Amino acid sequence: MRDEAVRHLRCPHCSDTMTRDGSALRCGSGHSFDVARQGYVNLLRGAAKFHADTAEMVAARDDFLAAGHYAPIAGSLAALARETAPEDGGAGCVVDIGGGTGYYHARVMSEFADAEGVLLDISKFATRRAARAHLRISAVVADAWDGLPFGDRAASVVLNVFAPRNPAELRRILRPEGVLLVVTPQSDHLGELVDALGLLRVGEQKEERLADRFAAHFTEVARERVRCTMALDHKALSQLVGMGPNAWHQEGDQLEQRIARLPEPCDVTLAVTLTAYRPLA
Ligand SMILES: C[S@@+](CC[C@H](N)C(=O)[O-])C[C@H]1O[C@@H](n2cnc3c(N)ncnc32)[C@H](O)[C@@H]1O
Ligand SMILES: [Zn+2]
Repeated sequence: MRDEAVRHLRCPHCSDTMTRDGSALRCGSGHSFDVARQGYVNLLRGAAKFHADTAEMVAARDDFLAAGHYAPIAGSLAALARETAPEDGGAGCVVDIGGGTGYYHARVMSEFADAEGVLLDISKFATRRAARAHLRISAVVADAWDGLPFGDRAASVVLNVFAPRNPAELRRILRPEGVLLVVTPQSDHLGELVDALGLLRVGEQKEERLADRFAAHFTEVARERVRCTMALDHKALSQLVGMGPNAWHQEGDQLEQRIARLPEPCDVTLAVTLTAYRPLA
């Protein structure tokens, strides 16, 4: 947890600024939050209301991403961040909401030599890894559906990759010239696996629903599609299922049997949309 990041954070209870006090962060009203040995700070207001990714899910995600299967998404996201971020990119921080292990965040941070990064996730297993993902990334445990523990206009860039988003709060924490970059799956993303492995289907209207929810707070300024075919071995298929929401719905043995019936390697479609938004005045 870097001091340069702490100045962007706000107390989740009273919205006051915070300062470091030994191994804790403290606000002016005396609320205090321990910085964990692994480097992240827990700013959750109460018990999490939603499923946080488990240690197993986070480990599967880390392995799958490290193998580079989603590198085309990371590369396109970093390029779009560079193109759309304000000129003085270092003035506000680069925030990743629901940032998981910090894979995309670290890639984007490498485009901004002076920027400070703050990753937020509800899973402490994810933030533990994210705190090590990049020298300038600090990690915070918090609920993306709740008020975000950042000051108004703290961020120049906000990332949101396959993760929950609360448009009103995202707008509040962005500088007026800042940019929000959202990555969402297209309806045929991982399509070959939906029936074969009993995966959850991406809603057909997901893009339209997203546009509706954002229209009151943001204007779309760019949209890009990333599409390619991944050749995945059985281990990668197992990681892919294990790292996502499907992990909550699958019985281990049954899944392994289904994977064993697929060819190896197995061709799987990657199809996502990257959208860049500016906050409405
Ligand atoms: C599908 S993963 C995506 C992670 C990362 N953006 C990536 O693509 O590698 C969704 C992430 O959102 C986090 N998450 C789920 N509900 C959340 C919430 N209410 N607040 C913050 N994070 C949440 C999960 O812990 C998980 O790390
Ligand atoms: Zn406080």
